[in-house]
Amino acid sequence: MTSTLVEPLLDWYDEHARDLPWRRPDRTPWGVLVSEVMLQQTPVRRVEPVWRQWMQRWPTPSDLAAATPGDAVRAWDRLGYPRRALRLHAAATQIRERHEGQVPTGYAELLALHGIGEYTASAVATFAFGQRHAVVDTNVRRVLARAVQGWPLPAPSLTAAERRLAESALPDDEPTAGAWSIAVMELGALVCTARSPRCASCPISDQCAWQAAGSPPYDGPTRRAQSWHGTDRQVRGRLLAVLRAATAPVPLAALVAAVPDADLRDPCQRDRCVVGLLEDGLADLTDQGAYCLPGAPE
Ligand code: ADE
Repeated sequence: MTSTLVEPLLDWYDEHARDLPWRRPDRTPWGVLVSEVMLQQTPVRRVEPVWRQWMQRWPTPSDLAAATPGDAVRAWDRLGYPRRALRLHAAATQIRERHEGQVPTGYAELLALHGIGEYTASAVATFAFGQRHAVVDTNVRRVLARAVQGWPLPAPSLTAAERRLAESALPDDEPTAGAWSIAVMELGALVCTARSPRCASCPISDQCAWQAAGSPPYDGPTRRAQSWHGTDRQVRGRLLAVLRAATAPVPLAALVAAVPDADLRDPCQRDRCVVGLLEDGLADLTDQGAYCLPGAPE
């Protein structure tokens, strides 16, 4: 991205960015880390209330580390992909043990935390500590694909060439690089959306390669929307909701009642999902053969 694109984007962000709590000056690095993990697979409007509850209850990594993994899973509420709660709990424990309770500032140390991948490490290093890293989420990928490459949508998964493009697009100095990254992300979320981009409101449409090419439609392979109804994910969610609501370990019959036979896609689905929750560490089986959240008192 050429430098002529930077200023219009930063001006647009100043005027149009959403006021989100993890972007405010009083945010903590821990708050940024939690927000980035929550936001990876869940929309902002669902994340915000849960993030606030987490920050109130566990304002530091050590506070979360002192809770049980089951507490984290319960407080994850309905954000989906609940293994993220376990990962945050494990990362908080490592931060307490290895970093004296402070979120580490270095990219490599962040990346070494449990469940923290390249995206989260670069987002935290950038948004919490003001460093210069390419922060490449789906929104950023779409903006770059359109504005620079002239494509309607990016490739289905991140390529090395895209990563290089994102690196080369980053402004040189740290503060501008961080401001630019969040501005591109916000543009992708609010204007340069996947289905109905609002090009008339875009601050860089006059320099956009996709616009210049006449906005050709996407003609690649069909992109599967993530299905939900009747899937193992949905069944696991229903089983987990029972464990979340319970104040004591529940018998298998309570899980069976939560997902009756008529709702199963195949006869093994419920058993498979119960075993999956146990294997993933999202549920525990007590010596008495009852089920509960991990680390919950028996
Ligand atoms: N602000 C900082 N990081 C963000 C993200 N991943 N999604 C939305 N807003 C953000």
